[in-house]
Amino acid sequence: MKEKKREHYYLKAKHENYRSRAAYKLQQLQDKFQVLGEGMSCLDLGAAPGGWLQVEALIAGPGGRVFGIDISSIRPVEGVTVMRGDVTSPDVVDKLIRMTGGPVDVILSDMSPDISGNYSLDHARSVDLVRTALVVAGRMLRDGGNFVAKLFDGELTGTLLADVRELFQSARLSKPEASRKQSSEVYIVAKGFRK
Ligand SMILES: C[S@@+](CC[C@H](N)C(=O)[O-])C[C@H]1O[C@@H](n2cnc3c(N)ncnc32)[C@H](O)[C@@H]1O
Repeated sequence: MKEKKREHYYLKAKHENYRSRAAYKLQQLQDKFQVLGEGMSCLDLGAAPGGWLQVEALIAGPGGRVFGIDISSIRPVEGVTVMRGDVTSPDVVDKLIRMTGGPVDVILSDMSPDISGNYSLDHARSVDLVRTALVVAGRMLRDGGNFVAKLFDGELTGTLLADVRELFQSARLSKPEASRKQSSEVYIVAKGFRK
């Protein structure tokens, strides 16, 4: 059954020309929380191969602006500006600000650490990546903006969520249906940034 579901989104992505099955996770989060909107600007951290970028470009439409960064190179996506870089490197935010030209409406992160197999370590690294995304948000997200970030659920989740709640009007965890049940990944969805 699980195998069938995995196959379902994989095949659907192939059929609908999405670069990754991850595209459906963002679509489902969007259906539930409306984090993106037509004409909005958004910055996608850890964007390769680009499934989320395709969804974002579709929602933002011709009046919106979509930016993506990844350590790996990202094949061009129509209507999207991409950059190669490590979000944890100290000078990257300055480069991102130069790329976007100013604050954005939404920041999204689907960044994953390299999996070591040690669950606590992988969980802690994923929490660090969310905190890095929050640092980027501190400098680049407009007042009232929205934030989405993946993490591997674990013992540090509660503290992280409490910290996010301090920064946004609302924040909650969500696991989209397209995310594998056996995976511990969950998404923080936060709205209304208090700059
Ligand atoms: C699950 S994939 C993202 C999939 C993407 N959302 C999509 O729909 O195609 C996670 C990505 O995070 C990137 N990543 C991990 N750490 C990063 C970092 N420090 N800076 C930039 N990208 C990073 C990885 O290179 C990888 O491409």
